[in-house]
Amino acid sequence: MPRPKILVQLDSDAQASVFDAVVAVDAGVDQLLQYRAVDAGSVRALVHGAIFTRGMADLHHTAIFVGGSDVTTGETLLQEVRRSFFGPMRVSVLFDANGANTTAVAAVLVARRHVELAGATATVLAGTGPVGQRTARLLARAGAHVRVASRRLDRASATCTQIRQAVADAQLVPYATSTSDETARAIDGCDILVAAGAAGVELVPADLWQSHVRARVAIDLNAVPPAGLPGVEPHDKAIERDGTICYGAIGTGGLKMKIHKAAIRSLFETNDRWFDADELYQLGCSLDSE
Ligand SMILES: NC(=O)c1ccc[n+]([C@@H]2O[C@H](COP(=O)([O-])OP(=O)(O)OC[C@H]3O[C@@H](n4cnc5c(N)ncnc54)[C@H](OP(=O)(O)O)[C@@H]3O)[C@@H](O)[C@H]2O)c1
Repeated sequence: MPRPKILVQLDSDAQASVFDAVVAVDAGVDQLLQYRAVDAGSVRALVHGAIFTRGMADLHHTAIFVGGSDVTTGETLLQEVRRSFFGPMRVSVLFDANGANTTAVAAVLVARRHVELAGATATVLAGTGPVGQRTARLLARAGAHVRVASRRLDRASATCTQIRQAVADAQLVPYATSTSDETARAIDGCDILVAAGAAGVELVPADLWQSHVRARVAIDLNAVPPAGLPGVEPHDKAIERDGTICYGAIGTGGLKMKIHKAAIRSLFETNDRWFDADELYQLGCSLDSE
């Protein structure tokens, strides 16, 4: 009889995410083991519990999901998970704290449906948050010229520096967007416009949307009114408005969920899968071309 598929959910929040639990079950996990309020110091013992219990031949029936609403803390937990493995003693891992990885991957994949990323100019508004940074990094890795925008130029510059550490030849320019004129400069002439601002924050005023947005594709990842981009509705999915193909947060959500579930299923194929943003993007490329 096959071993049940066990997913160990490591979550830094006071309560482990119900959303991540439901996706895990829907993706075919037989047994979900949820650990909440996980901190860096507790990871090693939890990981060792996962890798020492079943024999080598059965290790691929156990996997780890690292989540939680704090993406920076999640990254620390992820590093500790990696450090706790040794030699072949490991299990597959998916990192999607606060949905940041799957959301960014879905945004880039929908842009790629309409624009050749290599050589394209992309503006990522609020490119400093967990989703924006990942979106900018994935676009840069794909060869796009990326404008990383923030209300503060120093934050945009810091994000560019951080991305260059991962993508040495990244084409990045920081932009400030603290005034309407600055926002106009950041979006003028871009092929791809991604709004990755905090929930309920409008990033482009309606008059600028009318006068300056000529992008081939515009993606708003904020589902909470008011919209981040005034011309985009949350349910938009390849809806053309004034020559721009629009996607809203819910319109990209189907692909995000598809990637999340496919990654969970893939965790149980071998014991050495590692899904962070880049690996999820590769997985998403194969799904989106099916
Ligand atoms: N569909 C999903 O499952 C899913 C999953 C994750 C995220 N999301 C959505 O994706 C978006 C980005 O998520 P995130 O976690 O990266 O967001 P976040 O960290 O909350 O915010 C991203 C950026 O928004 C800017 N910002 C914050 N408050 C602002 C304000 N009052 N005015 C203007 N700009 C402001 C900040 O940039 P600066 O300070 O540098 O300007 C911040 O770095 C959110 O709308 C979120 O709801 C959706």
